[in-house]
Amino acid sequence: RPRVLSGMRPTGRLHLGNYMGALYNWVQLQHEYDCFFFIADLHALTTEYFDPSGIPASSDDVILDFLAAGLDPNLCTLFVQQDVPAHSELHTLLSMITPVTWLERVPTYKDQQEQLKEKDLATYGFLGYPLLQSADILLYQPKYVPVGKDQEAHVEITREIARRFNQLYPGSFSMAEGAAPWELEAVKKTARKLANDSKKEHFTPHELIAAAPQTKLKSGYGTETILPVPEVLLTPSPKLPGTDGRKMSKSYGNTIMLADPEPEVRAKLKTMVTDPARIRRTDTGNPDVCPVFDLHRVFSTVEIQEKAAEGCRTAGIGCIECKGWLADAVVDVLAPIQQRRAHYEANPALVEEILTAGAAKARARATQTMHEVREVMGLRQPR
Ligand code: TYM
Repeated sequence: RPRVLSGMRPTGRLHLGNYMGALYNWVQLQHEYDCFFFIADLHALTTEYFDPSGIPASSDDVILDFLAAGLDPNLCTLFVQQDVPAHSELHTLLSMITPVTWLERVPTYKDQQEQLKEKDLATYGFLGYPLLQSADILLYQPKYVPVGKDQEAHVEITREIARRFNQLYPGSFSMAEGAAPWELEAVKKTARKLANDSKKEHFTPHELIAAAPQTKLKSGYGTETILPVPEVLLTPSPKLPGTDGRKMSKSYGNTIMLADPEPEVRAKLKTMVTDPARIRRTDTGNPDVCPVFDLHRVFSTVEIQEKAAEGCRTAGIGCIECKGWLADAVVDVLAPIQQRRAHYEANPALVEEILTAGAAKARARATQTMHEVREVMGLRQPR
């Protein structure tokens, strides 16, 4: 199965926006791909370095939400970034080949500095954020990286860094499938000629690559790259409004949390803003400009959506009724999530076991990549 990797910063308990923006998609992917999902606690440190003490508890909350959302440790690998030191190690190696200008050009670098003015983000670590993310990704040699649009630039720089690494340190040279042994001999002969040395026995991948096109063999040639260039898998995510109509976000205080109990969900939705032109119960409304209807589109059945839209346009139903139907749908989505959360909350040892097993699996994969990386770079393996 093709491999998939993605991560999330530990920012505390998750809300419906986080769920629809990432987790829901991950849960679908785990059935089809060999998935690695992790908590990016080092990334949290880039902006929380002045007081990192809240990060572990936030990580605990996020892992519970991962499991509650339906990520199944039997289907995918779940782990915490700092449990796999190779993330930091590959980050260091990649930093040697990364031009500073590439990092300065990433749009989130300036944007975030603007947005988080109260934090001093003129640090080396913050500039390196996308590079650490590249290391996270390349370490697992995934085919796909499922993320939202806001992370696209980070996957793009990951692709550039992989290409640069592969160009600087090509992997082993291999003839295309079906090539005859004499064809490899022909390449070597040409390489020998290029090197002007008839006794040469050992060739670097660079030398073979240079020689191969000159032989004009039909079956071609190739190199096995150590860091395959990954592709972004853009999460099909509806823009989820919060209770005030703006994008659902913790910083706006307009969220519905995955862990909110039913009465709280109902109370929050009851006060949610609606089509501002519909003031009285007898006014007709326009569902296309109503944030409540945006949520209906995501959570309600088509029948309820149609009934709500029709009722709104004709003033057949009031907003309170419409919000009640929405609350029913949201509560239905949250119920199994909260049941699973309660199960794992009551079993902290089980969660530890899952993370320990996940860390071991992730470390094994990462160790293998690091071995290959050192090999193609010509570095010594650790004693
Ligand atoms: P983070 O923690 O901000 O967000 C996690 C995932 O949620 C997506 N997302 C959204 N999608 C749609 N609409 C939204 N409003 C919304 N808000 C968040 C994000 O696109 C992301 O997919 N740098 C990453 C974490 C990371 C990572 C990685 C991701 C570290 N290393 C390696 C992938 C691969 C981040 O801060 O995501």
